[in-house]
Amino acid sequence: MSSAARTTDRTSDGTPGRHPGLADSAFLKAARGEPVPHTPVWYMRQAGRSLPEYLRVREGIGMLESCMDADLVTEITMQPVRRYGVDAAIFFSDIVLPLKAVGVDLDIKPGIGPVVANPVRTLADVDAIPDLIPEHVPFITAAVRSLVGELGATPLIGFAGAPFTVASYLVEGGPSKEHAKTKAMMFGAPEVWDALMRKIAGIASAYLAVQVEAGASAVQLFDSWAGALTPDDYRAHVMPHSTRVLAAAGELGVPRIHFGVGTSNLLGLMGEAGADVVGVDWRTPLASALPLVGDRGVQGNLDPTLVFAPTDVMTARAAQVIEAGRAAKGHIFNLGHGVIPSTDPAQLERLTEFVQSYPLG
Ligand code: CP3
Repeated sequence: MSSAARTTDRTSDGTPGRHPGLADSAFLKAARGEPVPHTPVWYMRQAGRSLPEYLRVREGIGMLESCMDADLVTEITMQPVRRYGVDAAIFFSDIVLPLKAVGVDLDIKPGIGPVVANPVRTLADVDAIPDLIPEHVPFITAAVRSLVGELGATPLIGFAGAPFTVASYLVEGGPSKEHAKTKAMMFGAPEVWDALMRKIAGIASAYLAVQVEAGASAVQLFDSWAGALTPDDYRAHVMPHSTRVLAAAGELGVPRIHFGVGTSNLLGLMGEAGADVVGVDWRTPLASALPLVGDRGVQGNLDPTLVFAPTDVMTARAAQVIEAGRAAKGHIFNLGHGVIPSTDPAQLERLTEFVQSYPLG
């Protein structure tokens, strides 16, 4: 990396100062709804199993262990930035990491996902989960500081899991299709539900604050499984808690992206919860999403399986997404969900180059 791209100024506590070029980055301009030189692009799960360099550095090291090693987090976060030249980096971690950091007994099992040893069922279970303080996550602060130095004018996106999606892992004890136990608590034990959502919202807010205070330029709140809810249930039982997290992030002065899967019926509410940019999965055409999100930016939404199609088919569909995004207040190109592990990195490289060179004039 050239010395000009490095952050050189540091504040008295050792936090790298913001790179002067950051504010003019295409990603932050789009997130603020300002005109962009090109459509900015990054990919959910851009770091991870699709990259051979990721598999190499992760060899013999557990997922959570990797997330707590600042040097490894820095290296893994940088890998897709180096390979693809994407317009933003996403901090390498996981939505359950802050729970692990406060002492919840859980693991991330390969090919399965987060597994919680003692699922949460009662008010006492909720009360036993400590609130998060920065001292729980010194490795996050260290990794973000080292990353913003390396990234220079490329923004770093911090993230947290939204209360509903994190609650689903805590209540079910692991991944779930129906979220039946979670919704049973929501419908049948409102005091326990409310306490759990407040607890997670507090942890998510504190976790995002740590990342932004250390130098992250934007945040994404992942409510991946909110699509399991009706709009009325989302509004009554979930939205107030996500709203609290997004409001706290707003106080930090960074753009907020709010993403879920299968949320075509919730896009308006997810915007109203306090998003600057609403993430749209691939099932909803951007043109249909725009009237729902109102005066906000959108992020998305190429079907992640299109990278397995011939390159010209993939780029033709990417062009449609870019064209639809031009009517938005701001558009950040992404896949409609995470990069599938068997994705060929060479295809993502071609896609990135296509999006970044697509003429907007
Ligand atoms: O590059 C990035 O996007 C940043 C890294 C990131 C991970 N998890 C790394 C990870 C992010 C943003 C997440 C968020 C996350 N984790 C979400 C929300 C995003 C989404 O996909 O909707 C959710 C629901 C989780 C919970 C979780 N963690 C799942 C479902 C899995 C996958 C299980 C599997 O193995 O297929 C994980 C594990 C996980 N998180 C991996 C990675 C790279 C795979 C573990 C590994 O590489 O060993």
